Amino acid sequence: MTKKIAILPGDGIGPEIIEQAKRVLSALPVDIDTETAMVGGAAYDKHGHPLPEKTLELAKNSDAILFGAVGDWKYDSLERDLRPEQAILGLRKHLGLFANFRPAILFPELAHASSLKPDLVAGLDILIMRELTGDIYFGQPRGVRVLDEGPFKGEMQGFDTMHYAESEVRRIAHVAFQAAKKRNKKLCNVDKANVLETSQFWRDIVTEVAKEYPDVELTHMYVDNAAMQLVRAPKEFDVIVTGNLFGDILSDAAAMLTGSIGMLPSASLNASKQGLYEPIHGSAPDIAGKGVANPLAMILSVAMLLRYSLDMSPLADKVESAVSSVLRQGYRTPDLYQEGTIKVSTSEMGDAILKALN
Ligand code: IPM
Ligand code: MG
Repeated sequence: MTKKIAILPGDGIGPEIIEQAKRVLSALPVDIDTETAMVGGAAYDKHGHPLPEKTLELAKNSDAILFGAVGDWKYDSLERDLRPEQAILGLRKHLGLFANFRPAILFPELAHASSLKPDLVAGLDILIMRELTGDIYFGQPRGVRVLDEGPFKGEMQGFDTMHYAESEVRRIAHVAFQAAKKRNKKLCNVDKANVLETSQFWRDIVTEVAKEYPDVELTHMYVDNAAMQLVRAPKEFDVIVTGNLFGDILSDAAAMLTGSIGMLPSASLNASKQGLYEPIHGSAPDIAGKGVANPLAMILSVAMLLRYSLDMSPLADKVESAVSSVLRQGYRTPDLYQEGTIKVSTSEMGDAILKALN
């Protein structure tokens, strides 16, 4: 049956990188029907809302969503509900996309582009499993209030709420254990159980779920230590499972190990395996429209879409091989450029990928 793919380019470099992803999709033998819609600041400018009803409906009725990026400083003064980021947060929440797969894989050709010494990152292949619809990102109450007691009485106070319900922890733990089972059978739970009630509760549930996966080795690590280990000996990790906020931070750090944040794709799945695919980098308004953005994270997100939403692993492998191949040939966008390599623009990188695919 023809699968429906929603394409949401968004802001900043989103449209440029999505363009290259579309070229990749149309070069492949896939039976899909695509429809494009506005999201983020672009949607706010045109329709007064970062996630217009029409875009949300399209996303809900699609098998998969290919998402570029959202955000621009020029919207920073808007009230929070109207800021571009609400589009991606709203899509995650409305579609229940709780399981965020953020693989950090080092292509051997980029070992020298990593901020770490090549031997520390050579062969790096870790998976960060980030919970995506709970935590302090969505917790209520939140806001700004006037304090009527305590040492800061009479002052304004900003506040957010961190919480996780048992079923929220259980379902992400199951996805993480299942992923670890298919890999090196090592799962590291990352939390802040030495300080936070939410984390202690999370840790207890993960430990309970572990009983159903006796063949997976479960360890626990505090998030501050995990940040340190990620830059000290990242290859010690196989799969990391963590909450929304910690996962946001650790995945940016992990991205840099692979040479550039422009290299990391992600998949966000819900219980019915509907998926949203996006690079983990943002909209990078500072380089938007200059043709210098690295489209590889976006293209690798297409590979994840093929694998998880279309069940076409051989085609996903083919796209990933094409990425390896262009890197081997020396093509680099400016974020990865080093002497001795060939500097290319966003669309030239797309050309090279298409050539490698054929
Ligand atoms: C990410 C981004 C988002 C997040 C922003 C854009 C809301 O940083 O996907 O990692 O914090 O989740
Ligand atoms: Mg982030």
